[in-house]
Amino acid sequence: MKQIRLGGLSIDQTAALAPMASVGDRAYRLMCKRYGAAYVVGEMASAKALCYSDRKSAELLKSTPEEQPMAIQLFGSEPDFMARAVRIAEKYHPQVIDVNMGCPVPKVAGNGCGSALMKTPELACEIIRAMCRETDIPITVKIRTGWDADSVNAPELARGLEEAGAAAITVHGRTKQQMYRPGIDFDTILAVKEAVSIPVIGNGGITSGADAAEMYRRTGCDLVMIGQGSYGRPWIFEEVRQYLETGEILPDKPLEERLEIMLEHLSLICAFKGEKMGMMEGRKHAAWYIKGARGAAGFRHACGQLSHYEDLKTLAEEVLRTSRETE
Ligand SMILES: Cc1cc2nc3c(=O)[nH]c(=O)nc-3n(C[C@H](O)[C@H](O)[C@H](O)COP(=O)(O)O)c2cc1C
Repeated sequence: MKQIRLGGLSIDQTAALAPMASVGDRAYRLMCKRYGAAYVVGEMASAKALCYSDRKSAELLKSTPEEQPMAIQLFGSEPDFMARAVRIAEKYHPQVIDVNMGCPVPKVAGNGCGSALMKTPELACEIIRAMCRETDIPITVKIRTGWDADSVNAPELARGLEEAGAAAITVHGRTKQQMYRPGIDFDTILAVKEAVSIPVIGNGGITSGADAAEMYRRTGCDLVMIGQGSYGRPWIFEEVRQYLETGEILPDKPLEERLEIMLEHLSLICAFKGEKMGMMEGRKHAAWYIKGARGAAGFRHACGQLSHYEDLKTLAEEVLRTSRETE
């Protein structure tokens, strides 16, 4: 398996897990890692909140050694706060610090952070310079192709970010206006790859090994990254690995095994967050795992009611029984 170099890290050239707020927590990252994710990025944490000692934000920077190689992710729009947040983040010993310049949600972009930084490239570069001055930890950046179809500027921005000290660039192949709608712009990711000499990570719309291979082929990127395609199927990383190595499409996992993985995943969430919070956050994951099973629509409602881990076990048994009865 070929590897890419990112800062001092060697990363298998298969697929990485994208940062996903409220989804890609420690339990999620561990599950994806277990099924072959080559690299994982944590949920975005606000630089400003970290500087004001917000406990919830600091919690987002925690990781387990099994997750490595891993990046934590920061967002913010003020170079000074971003630099101070680097010093705080260093206490959590991250291998890489990624900066979010792609988030479209109003709470983030409305404050000049996330994707709004694509409209202020000089400030974006100043942020990276200020962060790189503070640390030897590689600073990477995740961007979109641009703000909207009329202002696609990822290649120029990426070049500026490289000059400012960025160690790698991830490009989500959609504009901010496009949000998460279909239509991945492979050409702009390719243009970014041609514009810089640091590693480029291609992201957007990958739900299979063939999609991952297409991203590599059409963009020449150094690594691909998967977000929503891993919902309820952390084994997608195993599928991508197998496809890239041999061209083989792995058969779907049997329902029983999928449910066992679901149980394991939610037990991990509960171990990290306690049963009450864990089951509340675990509901959406349970629904994703059950998607596609017979009677899934009815079970989805039951997922929304889950509050005890034991109830999840009962639900898993019911899902399995229903699928066997109707076979
Ligand atoms: C629920 C959710 C949360 C996300 N949170 C983050 C985040 O914290 N930081 C970030 O850079 N991108 C975030 N993203 C964007 C993803 O990292 C990724 O770029 C996007 O989902 C496109 O990849 P996909 O088509 O494989 O899902 C989030 C996306 C989703 C769906």
